[in-house]
Amino acid sequence: VRKMTDLELAGKRVLIREDLNVPIKQGRVSSDARIRACLPTIRAALDAGAKVLLMSHLGRPSEGQPDEAFSLAPVAEHLGELLGKPVRLEANYLDNDVEVADGEVVLLENVRFNSGEKKDDEALARAYARLCDIYVMDAFGTAHRAQASTHGVARFAAAACAGPLLAKELEALEKALANPARPMVAIVGGSKVSTKLEVLNALSDKCDQLIVGGGIANTFIAAAGHNVGKSLYEADLLDQAKALMAKVEIPLPSDVVVASEFSEAAEATVKPVDQVADNEMILDIGPDTAARFGDMLKNAGTILWNGPVGVFEIDQFGKGTEALSQAIAASNGFSIAGGGDTLAAIDKYAIEEQVSYISTGGGAFLEYVEGKQLPAVVALENAAS
Ligand code: 3PG
Repeated sequence: VRKMTDLELAGKRVLIREDLNVPIKQGRVSSDARIRACLPTIRAALDAGAKVLLMSHLGRPSEGQPDEAFSLAPVAEHLGELLGKPVRLEANYLDNDVEVADGEVVLLENVRFNSGEKKDDEALARAYARLCDIYVMDAFGTAHRAQASTHGVARFAAAACAGPLLAKELEALEKALANPARPMVAIVGGSKVSTKLEVLNALSDKCDQLIVGGGIANTFIAAAGHNVGKSLYEADLLDQAKALMAKVEIPLPSDVVVASEFSEAAEATVKPVDQVADNEMILDIGPDTAARFGDMLKNAGTILWNGPVGVFEIDQFGKGTEALSQAIAASNGFSIAGGGDTLAAIDKYAIEEQVSYISTGGGAFLEYVEGKQLPAVVALENAAS
């Protein structure tokens, strides 16, 4: 794959696909991690003398029609503040040439307003390609989508390459997964085994210990023969859980935090894992378990983290996730984290500086870990050959 940093950008129209799909609340960007992550790419292109055009999707609007609620206007404004110069939002770019002055940054309006974007329509991909001399794919978070702005355009652009953020994401994931420093410990949390089955399977081949958390852990606790009361778990996946436990060391909690209801007001009680009552639900790991898992993490050569181990949004069920966050922060191993909830936990426990690499990908991160090829990366490989 060619890299943006290898190409001569001076005076060229450079169209950079970023993932600026960020949460917007009341017309303002409420979390700008993805915007900050692509600043080095934009600055590098500007410093190299490129005429910079950016494009991204935002949310999932109905296709083929502009919708104010999904406009990138708040993103343009926020990005302008971070760059220290206004970013012009351009809505009319498919039939017209877009003029870009030297040093200017232009953001094209939400690509999902264009019919054919999600279908990877060829005419639309050609229209994007016409806007530029060089197409830069930098949107790791959308690299698992084969859409016109992430995939098709790479075929028709005069030149196509990987942006610095995409390259950095792929390097970090490769470092964690291709030849990890041992022992490798993965944490997979979340509510359902069914949505993470492929991730669990792929990691069971790679890691030395696989820590499971949340509703996922409940299914493993049930598979080990314990009563999980009224906890969220998947009764139809007990055999799959047993098969995974036969393949890789999956340490189970010895103590858990339970409550009789799932609410902010619920009272949290610590119990041995074999004493959960029928009217209780497991909402976090207990302190002994957190200490044991924490030791594994502190001694790990590589840590891959996706998903919390408890309902950390509610403080009394967040101590397990907090303890593991601190263990990850204290570890000298290479740590990589990805997925929306994981980033929220990193934020809440303020360990951003201590995690070796925080991915901007949600679905893309998981698909990479599953061992799937990312269509946008394949498109760049094809364009290079
Ligand atoms: C994400 O947030 O995971 C990416 O921006 C992709 O968004 P999508 O799932 O709507 O394609």
